Amino acid sequence: MSAPETSSPPEPGGLGNRIGVAGRLLPVTGWRVLNSVRESRLHSSLVAPLFREVNLEMTIVCNLRCPFCWWWGTNGVAPKIIRDKEPLWKDQLTFEEIRKVFTPLRGKGVHVYLSGGEPFDRPDAIEIVEFLASLGLTVSFTTNGTLLTDEIIDRLVKVDGITIIHFSLDGPEDIHDSIRGKGNFAKTVANAQKIIARRKNGHPKVWAQSVMTNAMFGRTLEFVRTVEAAGFDRHLFQHLWFADRPTLDQHRKALQEDFGVVDTAAEGHLMALPGAAYGRRAALELENTRRAVYPFQMWTAPRLGVEDAEKYYSDMKFAVVKSCGKPWAGVNIKADGRVVFCPDQWISYSVGNVRDAPLVELWNNGAAKLFREKLNARGLWPGCVHCCAINWRQQ
Ligand SMILES: C[S@@+](CC[C@H](N)C(=O)[O-])C[C@H]1O[C@@H](n2cnc3c(N)ncnc32)[C@H](O)[C@@H]1O
Ligand code: SF4
Ligand code: SF4
Repeated sequence: MSAPETSSPPEPGGLGNRIGVAGRLLPVTGWRVLNSVRESRLHSSLVAPLFREVNLEMTIVCNLRCPFCWWWGTNGVAPKIIRDKEPLWKDQLTFEEIRKVFTPLRGKGVHVYLSGGEPFDRPDAIEIVEFLASLGLTVSFTTNGTLLTDEIIDRLVKVDGITIIHFSLDGPEDIHDSIRGKGNFAKTVANAQKIIARRKNGHPKVWAQSVMTNAMFGRTLEFVRTVEAAGFDRHLFQHLWFADRPTLDQHRKALQEDFGVVDTAAEGHLMALPGAAYGRRAALELENTRRAVYPFQMWTAPRLGVEDAEKYYSDMKFAVVKSCGKPWAGVNIKADGRVVFCPDQWISYSVGNVRDAPLVELWNNGAAKLFREKLNARGLWPGCVHCCAINWRQQ
């Protein structure tokens, strides 16, 4: 997520887009084969070429409380880290520190994905976006869209380097507001539409990003039609990222065996298994909607056929993709400066802190090589099966 520190969606211009219409029609399994061939080349060395993407967690603070969120949801871990919502969480990187970290990446062709918490729940978010773009880096981010002011929107549309802004919308107005708070659907859509109206030449792209929940069953088509009519360029759906109790226990145990520390970061993902029938319903609804709205682009992450969806929601041993190339391709900077490979709190193993060493040094240091070595030996850790890093694919 995601991204991106959260669910990190892929950039346009990737494999799927380059192949064009043929690529869009390639069946789900075809993409898996292509991606696994591409990824197998990445894993042979413990030293990786310069990362292509940096995921910067702007803050873990957030103004909303979505129940499925690993930060602020029912089992979210953020309240254990910061007890109360503080306007400026005391441990988070300052703008000056962020400048220092990213300046050496000027012109290096790196993409920066901003996540949170809510990225705009820090007053200097717009300055950070403008600064990153001024280095020649491309930038995208996911936002709940509720904190964007007219001034911020006017500045955002002037930043050339922003590729995509993902607005989280979790259903038609009544469903969205029951998850994210009354009035927030209208606020988020209005802000997205202001960007669409004020942007030049169709940039940045404005995408809706949604979590597939059972509240959406029977309403998905209506919802996607609303998103299309509102002027969004694309609609992305994420299946739930989650883990049940036994999987979280196995995940923690495996990480302890490999790294000798107790890692409880993934606890925010705790959810009871929804079951096979839930998966079947979700897959059918998404695929039928996808066909009905074409040529409007609707993507799902992961894109699942019915059988795979049944397993995804009922069998935590099932992995859509069986290996992870993320630590060879991208890196995450936590809000407090720690550098980790895994998004969304799945694994908090850190290779150091940008407050102590340059990012490019941390990227291939001993701790980074150890992580890649252990990942190669494991294939995946138990919780990895529902991590966005292996479940997001161009479609
Ligand atoms: C953690 S949020 C951070 C950005 C911002 N606060 C927002 O909500 O857009 C990033 C994305 O992850 C999604 N998300 C949160 N919890 C999720 C879960 N358990 N499974 C899948 N996606 C989830 C959110 O809906 C959002 O689109
Ligand atoms: S707005 Fe984003 S970070 Fe905040 S609770 Fe919702 S999903 Fe989590
Ligand atoms: S799949 Fe596992 S190893 Fe790969 S980024 Fe996600 S949590 Fe980390």
